[in-house]
Amino acid sequence: MDKRISIAIDGPAAAGKSTIAKKVAKLLGLVYIDTGAMYRAFTYAVLKRGIDPEDEKASCSIIPEVKIELCEDGRVLCNGEDVTRVIREPKVSGNVSYIASYKDIRLALVDMQRDMAKTVSVVMDGRDIGTYVLPDAEVKIFQIASVGKRAERRYIENQEKGIETSLEDVIADVRKRDYIDSHRVFAPLKKADDAIELDTSDLTIDESVEAVLKIVKEKTGREVSCR
Ligand code: DC
Repeated sequence: MDKRISIAIDGPAAAGKSTIAKKVAKLLGLVYIDTGAMYRAFTYAVLKRGIDPEDEKASCSIIPEVKIELCEDGRVLCNGEDVTRVIREPKVSGNVSYIASYKDIRLALVDMQRDMAKTVSVVMDGRDIGTYVLPDAEVKIFQIASVGKRAERRYIENQEKGIETSLEDVIADVRKRDYIDSHRVFAPLKKADDAIELDTSDLTIDESVEAVLKIVKEKTGREVSCR
């Protein structure tokens, strides 16, 4: 029987981590865990209660009331409500970095993330997976791309999902989140010392997936082709 493995994919906002991670998970038969969706769902819960996301104390006070579920079919539930689409809206995207900077919220969500990776092999994407959540992950990838490319990809993705944004707003949001995510005190966005950096600025999705699979093969011996 195969040994359980964890693959951590970290990197800045809109670097295409979830697209690549999802495909890699499917090809390797592993469970995909989108930790960003968990911070987004928590942000939704904060906004829904009329709490100012910049108010740390009030935001953290609802930790015991917020139940987040990542379903196998990709849906995200927050206290039973399907929030899959709404957590991608600009209102959530523009506030999620505040919520993700609060230590108590991070600790609660990190507990859930570690629990998920305890029993099954996972591909987990986020900002602190290789450095903090799963420091012993067999494979650690730090996925980057230029701000311009990242914003362009997110803009197209938003259009496809029917989310109204201008390219300028997306660029501003990506820059703001990069800044807050990498400057927060607790578990900031940072490349783990033993992570392999993958720049996907000039790679297609398939090329990026191939590059990740090559790293997985080198590190674990697991082999599969995406063609
Ligand atoms: O990957 P994403 O854009 O959906 O993530 C949303 C926000 O959540 C992002 O701005 C930073 C935060 N985040 C985090 O701090 N740690 C993680 N492991 C995942 C996301």
